[in-house]
Amino acid sequence: MEPISVDIKRGYDPVYFSTNIEKIAKILTNHLAQSIEGSEKVLVQKEIEEVARELNFSEVIKNGDADIQQLVKVILANSNRLHHPLYMGHQVAVPMVGAAFADLINGATNNSMPVYEMGPAASAIERKVVEWALSQLNWEKTGAGVMTHGGSMANLTCMLAARAHALPLAWKQGVSANVVIMVPQSSHYSLSRAAAIMGLGTDSVAAVPVDEFFRIRTKELAETYNGLVASGKKVIAVVANSCATATGMFDDLQTIGKFCKEKDIWFHVDGAHGAPALITKKYRHLLDGCEFADSVTWDTHKMMATSSLCGMALFRTKSSMLKTFSQDATYIFNQFDKPGEDISVNTLECTKSMMSLKLFFNLAVVGERGLAKHVETLFDNAKIFSDQISRRPGFSVLCAPDANIICFRFGENCALQDSIRQRLVKEGDFYITRATIHGKSYLRLSIMNVFTNEKHIDALCDRVIELSGNC
Ligand SMILES: Cc1ncc(COP(=O)(O)O)c(C=O)c1O
Repeated sequence: MEPISVDIKRGYDPVYFSTNIEKIAKILTNHLAQSIEGSEKVLVQKEIEEVARELNFSEVIKNGDADIQQLVKVILANSNRLHHPLYMGHQVAVPMVGAAFADLINGATNNSMPVYEMGPAASAIERKVVEWALSQLNWEKTGAGVMTHGGSMANLTCMLAARAHALPLAWKQGVSANVVIMVPQSSHYSLSRAAAIMGLGTDSVAAVPVDEFFRIRTKELAETYNGLVASGKKVIAVVANSCATATGMFDDLQTIGKFCKEKDIWFHVDGAHGAPALITKKYRHLLDGCEFADSVTWDTHKMMATSSLCGMALFRTKSSMLKTFSQDATYIFNQFDKPGEDISVNTLECTKSMMSLKLFFNLAVVGERGLAKHVETLFDNAKIFSDQISRRPGFSVLCAPDANIICFRFGENCALQDSIRQRLVKEGDFYITRATIHGKSYLRLSIMNVFTNEKHIDALCDRVIELSGNC
C-alpha cells in the first residue's frame, strides 16, 4: 500500500481543522454582528462568473490547500444576510446559533442515520423532538412522525400515506385515473408536484376555491367534493393550509376537519409555515381543528429558527405512518435486535442529515419558552407593522395578518409594485418579495427577523415612495 498522500491527510487533519475553525468562527461572529446591526447591504448579487473569479474557483479546485478564511470571506460578502433587520424576504429562518452548532457537528461527523446504528444520538434525538412536536398536537399517545428534508418532502410523504390509507394496493399496483386530491387554490406548489411524482398527474389536483385572502371557502367544499364524486372521482385526501404561503392566512381547520371526518377522507394540514404557532399560548388557536387531521407538515427552518432543511411529517396514528412505505432491502432493513428504530423505514430519504440536532440545540439554547416567544414576537410584530403600513398615505394592506406575512401595495398599479420590488432587490438595501393575489401584484414581507422594528418599516415605506417616482 502506498502511504496516504499529504493532500488527502490535510482533508482529515484535526490541527488544520481546529486552526481554521477558530478563525472561521471569528469571521462568522463578525458577519453576524454586522448583519444584526444592519450596517451593510442585505443583499449583494453578482454574476456567476464574477463570484467564481472572486473565489479564484478554477485555481482553488485544481490545487487545493486554499486560503479557507479568504474563501469564507468571499462567500459571506456574496450571501444574503438573513440576520439583517431589513431582511423581510422569503420564509426562511434567521438561524439561531444552536442550529449552527448542529450543522457543525453534522459536517464533522456525518451520522447520516438511515438506520439507528449509523447515528444513534441523532436518531434518538429525532425520536424525542418528534415526540415533543406530537405532544403539541396532543398526539403523543397515538401518533408518530419522521423528520424530512423540508416541507415539500413532508407533504409528499403525507400524500403517500393518504394514498396507502385509501388504496392499500397502490404501492404494488399503481393507481387508476380517477384518483384525486383536493387542495386549496392557494396551496404550495409542492402538493401538485407530489401528485405528479406519485403518478396521479397534476390533473388529479382538484382546486378548492379560496376567498380574497387565500383561505378555503368552506361553504364550497361540499360542492367541490360532490362534483368530483358525481364525475366518478375518488377523493383520497383534502389538504388545508396553516397557513397559505402567499398571504400567511390560516384555513378554518374545524370546519374542514369535520367535513373530512364525515366523509371519511384523509385530512392533511400543510403547516410547513404556520404549525409552530402550536407552541405558543397566544396563537395556537389558529390551528384549532387540527385534532381532526390525519397528518401535519411542520417545518422548523421557517419560524423555529433552524437552518435548512428541517421538516417533520407527523401522523395522528402510528399505524398510518407505518403503512406509507413498503420495501424489502435486506442490506439495510432487518429485524435484528437493536436499541432504537431504523428511521428510513418510514422516510422517502435513505441517507438523512442529522437535522434533529438543529431543533434540539435551538431548544437547548433558548428553551421551549424562548422558542415560543420567538414565534409570538414574529406574529405580534407583523400585526404592528401591517397597521403601521396601512396608516401611511398611499399604502394599503391586503388584510390584517394572521401570521407574520404582510401583503401590501403602494398605489393601485400592478406594474409599479413589480418594478419597485425589482429596484429594491437590485439596490440590496432591503430584501422583500412579491406575490400575485387574485391577479393583482402585491409587495410581500415575511417578518422572520426579530430585529426588524418600526423604524425599519418606515424606512422601507419611504424608499417605496421615492422609487415610485422613478419606476
Ligand atoms: C405552506 C407551505 N408548504 C410547503 C412548503 C415547502 O416547504 P420547503 O421549502 O421546506 O420544501 C412551503 C414553503 O414555503 C410552504 O409555505
